[in-house]
Amino acid sequence: MKHDYTTVLQLTDLHLFADPAGLFNNVNTRDCFIKTIIHVQQHYEQPDLIIITGDLAHDGSTEAYHFIAEALKIFSVPVYYVLGNHDHPENAYQVYPLEFVSTDKYHSLKHWQIIFVDSNDQPIQDSYEGEVSQAELQRIKALIESYPDKWTIIAMHHNLPAHYDRGIDYEIRNHQQVIQWFEQLPSIKLVVSGHVHQEFVIIQQGICYLSTPSTGYQSLSKSKCITNDVPGYRWLKLYNNGRFETDVRRINVWAS
Ligand SMILES: [Fe+2]
Repeated sequence: MKHDYTTVLQLTDLHLFADPAGLFNNVNTRDCFIKTIIHVQQHYEQPDLIIITGDLAHDGSTEAYHFIAEALKIFSVPVYYVLGNHDHPENAYQVYPLEFVSTDKYHSLKHWQIIFVDSNDQPIQDSYEGEVSQAELQRIKALIESYPDKWTIIAMHHNLPAHYDRGIDYEIRNHQQVIQWFEQLPSIKLVVSGHVHQEFVIIQQGICYLSTPSTGYQSLSKSKCITNDVPGYRWLKLYNNGRFETDVRRINVWAS
């Protein structure tokens, strides 16, 4: 029987290098990424769609973007992405679209729509903060108004609500405006992000904000305590009636 839901695999903050031995905070991010893919294959069903919420390449290299497209070919499903603060837009767009990786910033399902939002407007060198442009906010509103019967997911790199755990209250400079904008668009049910390399579930005004562990390095908490958290990914089931389920799976790479 055909399922009454669509399955979405979220991967985030891969931080890959051209060099297979490349390390980010002592983590071989390429090895972790491959182990993540193997874990998905072994423990979950085939996703219908893959979304990547930024920081695909730590060094911004075209080799890293090629490697990701090649590795995800095994799923034979569409892959959508947004770029993070570590990415190199020119190199990413030099490589993509490629294989199953699309450069479209919108995906429509029968009952849901996913809007891929750029949160890197007016980047400031060496700043981890993002910004969403007025043009992006207008694009989101126009899409939602064009498809009023669809539930909406926003996928963006930077975490939007305050989470207080990294010593940075907010990750987006115009966070107040963006949150207010989203709250006026009632079809938005989920905002999924990466960037903070930690898992969060924050529900505000009927919108569920989710951040997802990196497939590689996990950031420390504000207290700088080592959490021993391991890489992970998020799974979403989007039901035709607007209900959704989600969970985060962790990969015990250190033990393998
Ligand atoms: Fe990152």
